[in-house]
Amino acid sequence: MLIAVCAPQSTPLAETEDGRITAIMKLRHERMKNELGKSLNLIDDEVHGAAPDKAKIAEAAQILLTYSKEIPVWFPKGSGPETGWGLAKSEIWDKPDEFKAATARMIDTAGKLARAANTEQLPEITARFEAVAVECKGCHKAFRIPPT
Ligand code: HEC
Repeated sequence: MLIAVCAPQSTPLAETEDGRITAIMKLRHERMKNELGKSLNLIDDEVHGAAPDKAKIAEAAQILLTYSKEIPVWFPKGSGPETGWGLAKSEIWDKPDEFKAATARMIDTAGKLARAANTEQLPEITARFEAVAVECKGCHKAFRIPPT
């Protein structure tokens, strides 16, 4: 009885773990590309456009902030180069404090941008936007294998 209950669990458990990693990796690509990438581009276009729309900027900044907070969840152990795909460097797991600091800076700058979008004038908003872009690039430089 006990064996019948336990045995079938061992193999599917390993497969489930693989499936979980794959799902998270797909999710992080989607989020980086859509929620982070598109929001950053939208703000870039707005602040450098003829008639910047502060409401749109504030909305996109909020998305940046919300999803930046999820970054740690997107990089579970076992989702690095050992999977044979993706561009995440092993440094993410070898230097966890540095990765954590890079994520914290991203959250911090995104928060400041979101606040500025609601309360400040364009030059301040633009400066906050640029500070966010620096964090995207900085983390990619340290922790992402350069895309070819
Ligand atoms: C704390 C680190 C970190 C921060 C901050 C970060 N990224 Fe990333 N990003 C990564 C890593 C690592 C990858 C590679 C993931 C992979 O290939 O599995 C990546 C991948 C991407 C990709 C490629 C996704 C794909 O489809 O392959 C885009 C686009 C991207 N990031 C945009 C952004 C933008 C825009 C920001 C800033 C708003 C940002 N990222 C902030 C670490 C970060």
